[in-house]
Amino acid sequence: MRFDVITLFPDLFREFLAAGIVGRAVEKRIVEVMLHDLRSHGDGAYRKVDDTPYGGGGGMVLLAGPLSRCLDGAQAAVSGRGRVVLMSPQGRPLDQATCRRLAREPRLLLVCGRYEGIDERFVETRVDEEVSIGDYVLSGGELPAMVLMEALARLLPGALGDATAADRDSFSGRLLDHPHYTRPEVFEGRGVPGVLLSGDHAAVERWRAEEARRITRRKRPDLLATEAGGDPGAERDQQAGPSSDRTRDDAMAKRADRPDAAQRGRS
Ligand code: ADE
Repeated sequence: MRFDVITLFPDLFREFLAAGIVGRAVEKRIVEVMLHDLRSHGDGAYRKVDDTPYGGGGGMVLLAGPLSRCLDGAQAAVSGRGRVVLMSPQGRPLDQATCRRLAREPRLLLVCGRYEGIDERFVETRVDEEVSIGDYVLSGGELPAMVLMEALARLLPGALGDATAADRDSFSGRLLDHPHYTRPEVFEGRGVPGVLLSGDHAAVERWRAEEARRITRRKRPDLLATEAGGDPGAERDQQAGPSSDRTRDDAMAKRADRPDAAQRGRS
C-alpha cells in the first residue's frame, strides 16, 4: 500500500515512519510512504501557503493553489490516482470498519490541514473523503495522519509478527479486548486469574470471551448495539469486501450513531 502525505511538516513523520509496526512495514515494503512538502509548492518567493479569510474573522486559511499543485504533482508521479483523504475534525470519526475499508485501497493521499481552515474549493475539487480521529480539534492533520497510517498498516498482510494479532484486537469484532497478564505471577500482592495458569485452553478461551463481554458492557455499552448501521464512505468504495465482513463492520460503524457523536459540528 502506498501513502502520499501532503504536509507543511514532513519532518514530524520521519521518526514515526522508522519505528514500530509502521517502520517494519516500510522496511518490508508492505507500505511505501512519500512525504510531500506543501511549502515547496507555495506562492511566490516567500512560498506563501495561507492567507486571511474572505469575510473577515481571525486565523489563516490554507490556499487552494499550493494544495492543488502539491496534490496534483503527487498524483502524477506514479500511475493510479489514489483516494484523497483530508484529515479534518469535520470528517467521519475513524473506526475499525473505516480502517478495514481504507486498508483495501492500493494508494491513499493524506492531506494534513493546518491553521484554522482550508479553502473549500480544494475540498470540493480534490478530496474524496474527510476523516476525523475524534471529536476534538488539533492544530493540524499530521498526528491524525499518523494515527490513520498506523491503524491501516497493522491490517496489511505481513505487517504484524503474529498474523492473527489484528483479529484479536479490541474492535476487530464488536467487543473490547479481554485483560492480559504476564510475569510475575504476583505483583504488589495481586495475583493472576487462576484459569490462566490452569493449562485448560478451552477454559481460557471461555474466560476471555466472558471477560471481553463484561468489559465491553462496563466500559463501552454502546458497542453492544447490534442493529446494522453503515459506513457511508464505503458507498463510494468500488472494492467493498464480502458481505460477511461488512455485517460485522456495520455493527462497529454503528458507534458513529451514538448521541455524543451526533453533536459534532463544524469548528
Ligand atoms: N485536524 C485537526 N483536528 C483533527 C481531528 N480531530 N481529526 C482529524 N484531523 C484533524
